[in-house]
Amino acid sequence: MHDLAWLEFQKPDLERAELFAQAFGFTTSMRTADELHLRGTGPGSPCVLVHRGPRSRFIGPAFRAAEAEDVLRLADATGRTVTPLSESLGGVTVDLVDPSGARVRVVADTHELTALPTQQPLAFNVGHDVMRVNATQRPPREPARVQRLGHVVLQTTHYLETLNWYLEHLGLIVSDFLYFQGQRERGPAMSFIRCDRGSTPTDHHTLAMAVGPANRYVHSAYQVSDLDSLAAGGEYLLDRGYQRSWGIGRHIQGSQIFDYWRDPDGFLVEHFSDGDLFDCTLEPAWAPMSASGLAQWGPPATKDFLGMGSGREALRELRAVVGALREDNEFDLHRLRGLMKAFAS
Ligand SMILES: [Fe+2]
Repeated sequence: MHDLAWLEFQKPDLERAELFAQAFGFTTSMRTADELHLRGTGPGSPCVLVHRGPRSRFIGPAFRAAEAEDVLRLADATGRTVTPLSESLGGVTVDLVDPSGARVRVVADTHELTALPTQQPLAFNVGHDVMRVNATQRPPREPARVQRLGHVVLQTTHYLETLNWYLEHLGLIVSDFLYFQGQRERGPAMSFIRCDRGSTPTDHHTLAMAVGPANRYVHSAYQVSDLDSLAAGGEYLLDRGYQRSWGIGRHIQGSQIFDYWRDPDGFLVEHFSDGDLFDCTLEPAWAPMSASGLAQWGPPATKDFLGMGSGREALRELRAVVGALREDNEFDLHRLRGLMKAFAS
């Protein structure tokens, strides 16, 4: 895989989705009665496709193959067929299902949208290095313009099986493993996974995956120009009444400056800037999972971010936990205890 291409969602209200998307900093690249395509300023395909449907749900990720031939090879190896994508997207896809039940597309030869003007990063006077004289800093309070899709985070009850599936089928490699404290011998509970582009550096994680009580979307992240555009864009979202979930801070795994928002359908979306780029030479690192270990600086991780928000949400979570414990999967009492310990530490 070369990168994530886009993410697909189903939402009942495209007007509401587009209004938030514009405040978040996306540009609409296509809009029909039943479909909304959102793009960043970078060249390539749209980052997000929204299909009108009866309820809000995440459909799945699409990865871009390094070469069109790889799509054929993958179809051959999995016994699937290569099918053409819609005219508006162009190109072809092989549609797979990962062991957690998510639809995963691998695409190639899609139409290339040309780059749009983006926000210019500010010139900083850093320490004694003076970059700016007789000029002021006035970052405008406007949407942080999304440049590109960075990563998606998924949770699954079949974590090791699903992780191995991605490594085997998509050729991804692991940047960081997290384990539950006291359960190191049981292997990882979360992994940050990147594309293998050989000596060409790529995002620290394009996909992250964690064991949990449900098979679900956790969040997706979109790159913006710099800290000031992220912060000013955050003020713009607050002014319009949107809900910040957690931020602003700097992550540990991946090092990104982050800011998390709830879209009107309840999906968690992240603005990020200044993430790590790794080539294929780095081996995965291991660290214990904890809520306080999610950031180097910033406010403590919120209940909303950890998925323990309001009463109704907590109840839904409890139901998911009970359901997952009953079924035959990797989420057992040990994993539940590990997760609760991680959230509390
Ligand atoms: Fe993230």
